[in-house]
Amino acid sequence: MSTLIRGGTVITAEQTYRADVLCDDGKIVAIGENLEVPTGTEIVDAGGQYVMPGGIDPHTHMQLPFMGTVASEDFYTGTAAAMAGGTTSIIDFVIPDPQQNIMDAYRAWRGWAEKSAADYGFHVAITWWDESVDADMGTLVREEGINSFKHFMAYKGAIMADDEILYNSFTRSLGLGAMPTVHAENGELVFQLQKKLINEGITGPEGHPLSRPPAAEGEAANRALRLAEVIGVPLYIVHVSTNDALEEIKRARAAGQRVYGEVLAGHLTIDDSVYRHPDWDVAAAHVMSPPFRAKHHQEALWKGLQGGSLHTTATDHCCFCADQKAMGRDDFSQIPNGTAGVEDRMAVLWEHGVNTGRLTMNEFVAATSANAAKIFNIYPQKGSVSIGADADLVVWDPNASKTISVKTHHQNVDYNIFEGMEVTGLASHTLSRGVLGWKDGDLRAVKGAGKYVKRPAFSAAFDALAKQSAQHTPKAVKRS
Ligand code: URP
Ligand code: ZN
Ligand code: ZN
Repeated sequence: MSTLIRGGTVITAEQTYRADVLCDDGKIVAIGENLEVPTGTEIVDAGGQYVMPGGIDPHTHMQLPFMGTVASEDFYTGTAAAMAGGTTSIIDFVIPDPQQNIMDAYRAWRGWAEKSAADYGFHVAITWWDESVDADMGTLVREEGINSFKHFMAYKGAIMADDEILYNSFTRSLGLGAMPTVHAENGELVFQLQKKLINEGITGPEGHPLSRPPAAEGEAANRALRLAEVIGVPLYIVHVSTNDALEEIKRARAAGQRVYGEVLAGHLTIDDSVYRHPDWDVAAAHVMSPPFRAKHHQEALWKGLQGGSLHTTATDHCCFCADQKAMGRDDFSQIPNGTAGVEDRMAVLWEHGVNTGRLTMNEFVAATSANAAKIFNIYPQKGSVSIGADADLVVWDPNASKTISVKTHHQNVDYNIFEGMEVTGLASHTLSRGVLGWKDGDLRAVKGAGKYVKRPAFSAAFDALAKQSAQHTPKAVKRS
């Protein structure tokens, strides 16, 4: 089955040029001007539009069992909504309960994800430690195509990784050529502040950001970075939301550490006033961690993205409806943490990034797909427009506009954190492996059409780092 995208301007992270793009059997097979095509080829008219790699959202949680409930968006509805917004791949998370066998958890998530309409991969969370975890990390990397392990430094009493787990898992990751990633918040501090605030009678959603101050994120980012520095392993910090954490990343990078930062479309555009909204449901709908921050952090995050200290954009798409959020009506610490956005990330980034002049179109591609593909080792299969790459493409109409709303979105959740935001620049067509899943407002996503994407371990770069850290390992002094 062939599809020709005709007459568009191709935008990659590196280049901008006029070309047709021919897709066949799931791959890009030709790129050039005025391509001849066999009869029967489906033609997409991209005149006046941009042809870019489909978005990669490296941080989603479809149907996540979390805080006593399960996220409302499943792998089908979530990846379908993603395609409506131009995103063609997600990297979700396997999150074993403490003491749960890692491979059992992995197999459960693989099963749930079979209904995905677009391609997907997994980071695997390390929530506890023993010899079986050490061995399973090896199996996941060598046999299952996992090259990143996630550590939640928050959520004490549930999935929090303490320093011992971080040390063991970071060290094992280095040996395997896998990337450790962290949710950086000091979980003990958050836990103590939650108790204090509740005792003081602050039980509503306004307590959520108060219990998770920027310093809690800065401290955890610094701790993870310092551990990674001593161990000699790269680090990827998810959802950087504060200038505090950003400054730690900048310091580490200036010192030569290999560290990557991710920022969420929500943290770039929404501030903490949402938690003081008079309607409890609206305030609770914004409860996610780290929380939305005071405005000055947003400008710092944009600068981090512009200046190369932050590399990827994501959503942390983790949907809970009003009846689920209500579990925390009397105690904000019981409100399930999570907000949506997988459908809106590309348009929000285009509107607030490209349309404002903060990002060039090429930088937009880097931030929405190419960098994630490079960091997680699936480039140029994903994140590029090149011959032999997967035909995951978005045709982007820079003149189309809409007002984002829960009334029109495709996400399976009853609130949209970007409600009322006017955006100009939208996906007109989205192709997953050469098949149109979104065409001029018509969502044609097919349940089960998405494929699991294996991500190979890093070798060359990690070998160099491992050598470096071995050189720095002191030898015992021999004494008579
Ligand atoms: O609030 C959030 N972010 N929920 C999902 C879990 C996480 O921390 O990423
Ligand atoms: Zn997180
Ligand atoms: Zn998350």
